[in-house]
Amino acid sequence: MRVQVLTIFPELFGPFLATSLVGRAIEKGLLDVRVHDLREFSEDRHRSVDDEPYGGGGGMVMMAPPWIRAVRTLSEAPGGEQRPWRILMSPQGARLDEPRVRELAARRDLILMCGRYEGIDERVRQTVVDEEVSIGDYVLSGGELPAMVLIEAVSRQVPGVVKLADSVEQDSFRNGLLDYPHYTRPPMVEGLEVPEVLLSGNHAAIRRWREEQALRATREKRPDLLARAGSGGAAATES
Ligand code: ADE
Repeated sequence: MRVQVLTIFPELFGPFLATSLVGRAIEKGLLDVRVHDLREFSEDRHRSVDDEPYGGGGGMVMMAPPWIRAVRTLSEAPGGEQRPWRILMSPQGARLDEPRVRELAARRDLILMCGRYEGIDERVRQTVVDEEVSIGDYVLSGGELPAMVLIEAVSRQVPGVVKLADSVEQDSFRNGLLDYPHYTRPPMVEGLEVPEVLLSGNHAAIRRWREEQALRATREKRPDLLARAGSGGAAATES
């Protein structure tokens, strides 16, 4: 899976790409992430990427030419391969969820455009964006953290990245339900014991208990997911 990122703050990505699951995926060659500085695609000697808004008003607007030049350059696919799917991280996009993460992972070649929230010239959207993606209904100062969220979520779907194939299968949302509770040593914490069934060695009973607990957690914490499942929504149909 290849991900190319465009940002004016490439340094934000360093430790994220070197650590934990994403770091290991890159090390193993399962994931290829390249972070590009948008300023490299500016054409003036100050490397500017923003300017005052037409029509007045506060804040600067990111200019279209550096974005268009950058995305076109990164889109050049060797040997006539399909060009990358171009995503603008934006609170105006469709909200990311697990089914969408799986669809994006299947594309295998992404460009993530991290705008700063003050604004980006509308003609960027009109010319070099396939899709806008939001990570939630709140506004961040830029698309860098959302891009990291997307990278981590899609990389979990790349075969071999998560060690136990099982643990992706059993992740919250995989079957439209939240995860069941987990326990490890010590057996007693603050007077709270580990549920006995988990010590029983009876694997069928353990599986049943986990299914019940997942359903219960979903009912208590996210009843909207069950409502969606009941109405045949995405959560129900994904297996
Ligand atoms: N940029 C600023 N806020 C964002 C959000 N909520 N999702 C994606 N990109 C963003």
